Amino acid sequence: MSGTRIDCFPTSIWHFDLPNAPVMNQQLIAAIKAEQATDQVGLRDRSSVIGWHSHDRLTQNPNFKEFLDITGKNVVEIARFAKWDLDRLTMVISNCWALVNPKYATNVVHDHPNCVLSGVYYVQATENSGDLFFIDPRQAVRMNPIPVTEYNQWTQGKLVYKPIVGRMVIFPSWLLHGVGANLADAERISISFNVKVALKQA
Ligand SMILES: [Fe+2]
Repeated sequence: MSGTRIDCFPTSIWHFDLPNAPVMNQQLIAAIKAEQATDQVGLRDRSSVIGWHSHDRLTQNPNFKEFLDITGKNVVEIARFAKWDLDRLTMVISNCWALVNPKYATNVVHDHPNCVLSGVYYVQATENSGDLFFIDPRQAVRMNPIPVTEYNQWTQGKLVYKPIVGRMVIFPSWLLHGVGANLADAERISISFNVKVALKQA
């Protein structure tokens, strides 16, 4: 006799590898550096430690239009999988910002309130530039840790992503995450965004 298993309440984290990344990233680096030149302090009340955090209105900058168009398509793919009713919902990329993490910079654990999906895209990085990590949101599981024979997506309390240039990772906005220290000499440059939904007016 063998049991039947249902895995309920899954937490989906998506990634997309953008085919046009080599060309687009050069344009994005130039656009981010131009933003940084006009606002060298950036936002200081966010997750960045040491690193630079741009303002979050890059949605209004035409240099990010191609990136945002691709992001929009990826978000729709996720919404369709999740069976969101796109006839009744509007989805909008509500804000978008760039992060430049020099050596030893990190991002503390945080979530993204007031939105449904969030994401990050790697413009410039090496494998030592600082991993993105997600923490199991089921806090109760940590109250009685059980020894396991293997670490995998069912058993580990933390999921780690190496930064891969050209990759976009999209996740539920409520999922706690952070970024490890950049141990490379080169800057780690990424773009993040939030997605909101609203009911269409009848
Ligand atoms: Fe974040």
